[in-house]
This record gives sequence, structure tokens and C-alpha cells, in this order.
Amino acid sequence: MTDSCCTSTPALRGPVPLSHLFLRNFLCEGHTAVDATCGNGHDTLLLSRLVGVSGHVWGFDIQPQAIGETGRRLAEAGLSSRATLLQTGHEELVQHVTGPVQVVLFNLGYRPGGDRSIITRPDTTGIALEQSLGLLALGGIVLVTVYPGHTGGDEEQSAVEKWATNLDPRTFYCWRMGQTNVSPDAPYLLLAQRAL
Ligand SMILES: C[S@@+](CC[C@H](N)C(=O)[O-])C[C@H]1O[C@@H](n2cnc3c(N)ncnc32)[C@H](O)[C@@H]1O
Repeated sequence: MTDSCCTSTPALRGPVPLSHLFLRNFLCEGHTAVDATCGNGHDTLLLSRLVGVSGHVWGFDIQPQAIGETGRRLAEAGLSSRATLLQTGHEELVQHVTGPVQVVLFNLGYRPGGDRSIITRPDTTGIALEQSLGLLALGGIVLVTVYPGHTGGDEEQSAVEKWATNLDPRTFYCWRMGQTNVSPDAPYLLLAQRAL
């Protein structure tokens, strides 16, 4: 592997750009990645760029609008062939995806600009997180942007924190990363890496 210097300076305002830094470091041509919550497709698009022509992205969302918007974004970029989009809950991850997977990405909560009552839920998120661990390549990561601030977000935060705290430290390296100079219920990032 060769070292290289940065080509642009990311603005680290909130957890999403921070998650993108990790994506850029962990994904290469030929890798498999999962977007467990496609939403408006911004993350799926980045994943599809990073895995290259020989890689593949599996995208999940329960909302037809999310799958439609994500498909439109990929088509506009000429990257439709790099992703399989499923209008299915991420709790069915293992029915569709076989490992090894380099990255599984969760961006929890509701779809920006969409119906705010359709949110990720602790029970299904928990199932999907567990399934993700079983699919990870050695050194692969699960990234979770957690949103405690909306109705139901605090319950989901508790469930995700419990999951992350109880992972065996010999098998998974787990990190919590949040901006310090924001409100206590601001979103933040969790990362779990499967040990090499
Ligand atoms: C914050 S948005 C994702 C944002 C997205 N990553 C982007 O780049 O725009 C969360 C999404 O999770 C979806 N969602 C809720 N429950 C889900 C489930 N069980 N499986 C998959 N997606 C789910 C919602 O429909 C919503 O679109």
C-alpha cells in the first residue's frame, strides 16, 4: 500500500462527513458494501463510487420513495449497475447478502424531506446490526449514525449503545465519536471494526 496526501479538505460538521472519511479509507475497488438505510441515496452514491466497477453495493430501505430517489441518483451518475436496491427491511440482510462485506452503513432515523413518522426502530435495527457483524470481512466495519434527538430516537440510542458496549473487545474494536461543542442530543457516530 502506498501513502498518499489528501486531495480535498472535508468539513467535519456532524457525523455524516466523518462517516464518509471512514468510507474513503476502508473501501477500495472490488469491495462489497451495504447501505442499510438508503434514504435519499447520498450515501449509496458514495459507496457505489468507492467500490468501483468490480465492486458491489447492496442498498436497503422500506420506503418506495427512498428506493426511487436512490435509484434516480445512481442512474444520473451512471452507476446503476454497481448497486442492487431492495425495498426491504435491513433486518432481512442475510437473506440477500453473502459476505465478506467490507462496510455496512446505517444512517438511522427518518428520511430527510420525507415522512418523519417512518423511522428506524430499535428491534429491527438490533437484528440488522447483529447480522452485519456476521457478514463482515476481517478488518471490515459497521458504521452507525445515531440520532437521539427525534421522537423514538432515545430508545433506539439506548438499544444501539447496549449492542456496541457489549461487543467482545477481542473480536470487535468499537468506537463512539461525537462533536463536543453541540447539544447533548446531537447525532453521533459509532464504529465497530472486526478484528484483523
Ligand atoms: C436518515 S435516513 C437515511 C439517509 C441516507 N443514508 C441518505 O444518504 O440520504 C433513514 C432511512 O432509514 C429507512 N428505514 C427505516 N426502517 C428501515 C428498515 N427496517 N430497513 C431499512 N431502512 C429503514 C427510512 O425509510 C429512511 O429512509
